[in-house]
Amino acid sequence: METRLIFISLCLGTILSAAEEVKENLTGVVGGSITLPDPLLERGFLLYGPEIIASVRNKVFQIEEETYLNKLLWDTETGFFTITDLQRNNSGVYRFDSKKGRSLKSSYQLTVYDSVPPPAVKALSVSSDGCSLLCSVDREATLLWFKGEQILNQSSSASSLPLTVNTEDLRSSYRCVAANPAENKTLTVDVRTKCGLNSTESEAENKIRHCNSC
Ligand SMILES: *[C@@H]1O[C@H](CO)[C@@H](O)[C@H](O)[C@H]1NC(C)=O
Ligand SMILES: *[C@@H]1O[C@H](CO)[C@@H](O)[C@H](O)[C@H]1NC(C)=O
Ligand SMILES: *[C@@H]1O[C@H](CO)[C@@H](O)[C@H](O)[C@H]1NC(C)=O
Ligand SMILES: *[C@@H]1O[C@H](CO)[C@@H](O)[C@H](O)[C@H]1NC(C)=O
Repeated sequence: METRLIFISLCLGTILSAAEEVKENLTGVVGGSITLPDPLLERGFLLYGPEIIASVRNKVFQIEEETYLNKLLWDTETGFFTITDLQRNNSGVYRFDSKKGRSLKSSYQLTVYDSVPPPAVKALSVSSDGCSLLCSVDREATLLWFKGEQILNQSSSASSLPLTVNTEDLRSSYRCVAANPAENKTLTVDVRTKCGLNSTESEAENKIRHCNSC
C-alpha cells in the first residue's frame, strides 16, 4: 500500500514537474516591455503562474485579470503577446494553455530587473606611472573596465571599480560598462582628457614625467 502510494506520488511529481518545465528565461527592465517569443493564434489561454490572465478565441483577445488591462497587448495578425510597463512584481512564469496541448512547450520564466544605472568616471590621480581612474554608479551593478574587447577589471554588485592606465596606454580606448542580466550601459573614456593631459603628446608625457602625484 505504502509502496504504491510512493509510486503514484512519484509519477504525479514527474508529470507536474514536466508541466512546470521552463522553456526559456526572459529578462526585462522596470518600465520596459517584453514580447513573449511564441505566438498564440489558435484558441487558448495565457497564464501567469496558476492564474489565467487572458484568452484568445476566434481571433478575439480578452483580458481575464483586471490588473493586465492596458498592460497586456495581443497582436491580432501575428498572435504575439506583449507585456508593457514592466514592474518587478511581473516576474514569474508565463505559459500558454491551448486545445492543441502546447502548454508544455511554451513557458517562460520572466525576471524583471531595475534599469542599470549609468556609469560615471573620474580621475583619481595622475603620476609618473600613469593615470588612475574610478568608474562608479549610484546603485550596485556589475562593473567592467574594457580596453577594446579585453576585460581589464570587473566586479559584481559593485558601486565603484578602479583602473590604472599606464603612461604608454594613455591613447588607447577605454570604456566602463555597468551591467545587470537585463541590460548594460557603456561610457567610453578619453583617458588623456579625463586625466587633464589633453595637450600635445610631448607636453602630456612631459607633464607625467615631472609630476609626482599631482
Ligand atoms: C533558466 O534559469 C535557471 C536558473 O537561473 C537555470 O537553471 C536554467 O538552466 C535556465 N534555463 C535556460 C533554458 O536557460
Ligand atoms: C506591482 O507593483 C506595482 C508598482 O510597483 C503596483 O502598482 C501593482 O499594484 C503591483 N501589482 C501587484 C499584482 O502586486
Ligand atoms: C581592479 O579592481 C580592484 C578592486 O575591485 C583593484 O584593487 C585593482 O587594483 C583593480 N585592477 C586594476 C588593473 O586596476
Ligand atoms: C551589453 O548588451 C549587449 C546587447 O544588448 C550585449 O551584446 C553585450 O554582450 C553586453 N555587454 C556586457 C558587457 O554585458
